[in-house]
Amino acid sequence: MSLKKILIGAALATSLMAGTVAAEPKVEVLHWWTSGGEAAAVKVLMDEFTANGGTWTDMPVAGGGGEAAMTALRARVLSGNAPSAVQIQGPAIQEWHEEDALSDLSDVASAEGWDALLPEAIAKIQKCEGKFCAVPVNIHRVDWMWANPALLAKAGVSMPQTWAEFNDAADKLKAMGITPLGHGGQPWQDATIFDAVVLGIGGVEFYKKALMDLDLDALGSDTMVAVFDQMRKMRGYVDDNFAGRDWNLATAMIMNGEAAFQIMGDWAKGEFTNANKTPGNDYLCAPTPGGAFIYNVDSFTMFKVDGDDKKAGQKLLAKLIMGEKFQTAFNLSKGSIPARLGTDLSAFDYCSRRSSYDLNIAASNGSLVPSHAHGMAVRGVFSGAVTDVVTNHFNSDMSSQDAAKALVAAIKNAE
Ligand code: BGC
Repeated sequence: MSLKKILIGAALATSLMAGTVAAEPKVEVLHWWTSGGEAAAVKVLMDEFTANGGTWTDMPVAGGGGEAAMTALRARVLSGNAPSAVQIQGPAIQEWHEEDALSDLSDVASAEGWDALLPEAIAKIQKCEGKFCAVPVNIHRVDWMWANPALLAKAGVSMPQTWAEFNDAADKLKAMGITPLGHGGQPWQDATIFDAVVLGIGGVEFYKKALMDLDLDALGSDTMVAVFDQMRKMRGYVDDNFAGRDWNLATAMIMNGEAAFQIMGDWAKGEFTNANKTPGNDYLCAPTPGGAFIYNVDSFTMFKVDGDDKKAGQKLLAKLIMGEKFQTAFNLSKGSIPARLGTDLSAFDYCSRRSSYDLNIAASNGSLVPSHAHGMAVRGVFSGAVTDVVTNHFNSDMSSQDAAKALVAAIKNAE
């Protein structure tokens, strides 16, 4: 008999002697982790849950950035059959709390001491009216640039430190017939590049004004016009087949030498890791020029469900997610860094350690900012309005001036 069975048997015997039978923990987990690297990461959570006596029902909804998963979630909630655990990000947690849809996780949080285990800024996102209603699995960095070292060497360029250097490198590569930018034409991927460009061209205070405060002057400013000028350049650096391509296929272009750079959050590193590629040799990582840190935290919320087995499953899952063992193993696969403070990073690669180092600096000097593209900065109605303009501009010949005007109009309209 396996150790696991013996332990489960012993737990059952104890509860029978006490006159109670503990419900068997069950979860149904809605997430959008379907690429190779993402699937490897979610398997870590699934294995940890089942090793602790739980039964896991998987509900993956393909689609990078999670828009399709959130649509599937709304449909399930509307039909009165919410999944018990849901991958979610940022202000969407509050939105579901306002619908009275979320379970309170205070019991697990105080038993496990979550307040002391999380950076304050991250803990705040997980709380609804001061009580934990979500639990974070990671901290992703969004403003990353990934590159193929052989292609850069061929063109005689190095990792750009400024956007002007990026443009020079991209122009050289393009002149040699090499696709400078591996990109997938999906709105959330366009928006991911936009996050990095707003930060890089406008600086961190401009990023905050435009994408967090939605300040109409900033959105319509000359600086925003310059941002769209750079977006137009980015459009010129993608290949002809970019429309609709999934992000992980764009990452594969970097791996296979079909494109030189990708601008994407560090879930892209999960793909490199899953393909046994190592940074420095097979690929390069560097923050996009910007001097700040754009974060994106994946959390799980537990939706209100009936049944002791489901409730027990939610508690067990929440507890395991904050465990050091899980946070290490999961993030090694996922490309992100642990949300749990004090987790040993010695097994992590250079890019992750750089991420952790930069995160601490950014947190101390006010340059740690939430990702707009990944729903961390503002509520869905506003981020959707901005993303629409960014995508429309990227996929048409709209002028930069018109795009800045369209941003102002879109926000006024959404208000
Ligand atoms: C999520 C990541 C995910 C990526 C691509 C992001 O919004 O935070 O966990 O890997 O989308 O789907």
